[in-house]
Amino acid sequence: MRIVPTGQSLGVSIEDLDLAKPVSDADYKKILRALGHHGVLCFPRQTLETGAFAAFGRLFGDLEINVANQFHEPGHPEVMILSNITRDGRPTGLGDAGQGWHTDMSYSRDIALANLLYAIQVPMRDCRPLGDTQFRNMHAAYDDLPADMKRRLEGRTATHDFVKFWDMMRAKPGSTRAPLTAEQRAKKPPVKQPIFATHPITGRKILYCNPGYALWIDDMDAAESAETLDYLFAHQAQDKYFHAHKWTAGDVLMWDNIGTVHNAVPDYRPDEPRYIRRVQIMATKDYARLAA
Ligand code: OGA
Ligand code: MN
Repeated sequence: MRIVPTGQSLGVSIEDLDLAKPVSDADYKKILRALGHHGVLCFPRQTLETGAFAAFGRLFGDLEINVANQFHEPGHPEVMILSNITRDGRPTGLGDAGQGWHTDMSYSRDIALANLLYAIQVPMRDCRPLGDTQFRNMHAAYDDLPADMKRRLEGRTATHDFVKFWDMMRAKPGSTRAPLTAEQRAKKPPVKQPIFATHPITGRKILYCNPGYALWIDDMDAAESAETLDYLFAHQAQDKYFHAHKWTAGDVLMWDNIGTVHNAVPDYRPDEPRYIRRVQIMATKDYARLAA
């Protein structure tokens, strides 16, 4: 396998690796390290059965079964479908996933290592792909914070809640998301997360706080908390941390769900079909050891 840089703050292409074949120990270690250091890995030109796609993900940790698990591949509750395609008037997948800056699973006590998306159909207009997935680098965002901000927030936590993003999506015109049921809510109670976390692969500090799920800073006056979160979110939104993935069918995209934030761009129409398979890799292994 070859690691080809994209020249942006995040992102590399991993060439000459067929994910349908067993991954060698040496390649596994290289992939894990690249995930920590480059945040977003694209494995182009893949042809994978659903089971093989999930099996590649499972090499890195247990796969999540989503709380709002309406859409998944038959026989694979762990393989979610992201799609705007309807069949017999009914959606085939979740049509509005990730439309707003967030970090997957930061609302969960057990956090995620990585998300793995496999593009089957990419919306196109005038020969250009639509529906980019955008990222920002939270290693660099932490590094650049003023020293007094680092000192002030060191050791502090913020409360993250699944319902924040869900209700933000529900408030958008045309949303078909139903309110979360009491049962769904009970499965995902709000959690406290460190504002600065240590990345398990790089061993470096990151800004682990995102506008999709973080509600407030714990044990802080409400106005000061709101002002500080506004500051952190504006800081992390700077262009220098940015990378956009432009999709090609056959891409498998793996991104670091600890050291990045991401956003799905809904710039395509209902007649421009998007179909993507997704697994969420939970941080269930000792990555510091595995990457060493
Ligand atoms: C997700 C997500 C982005 C996209 O699946 O968690 O944010 O571009 N998806 O579909
Ligand atoms: Mn997401």
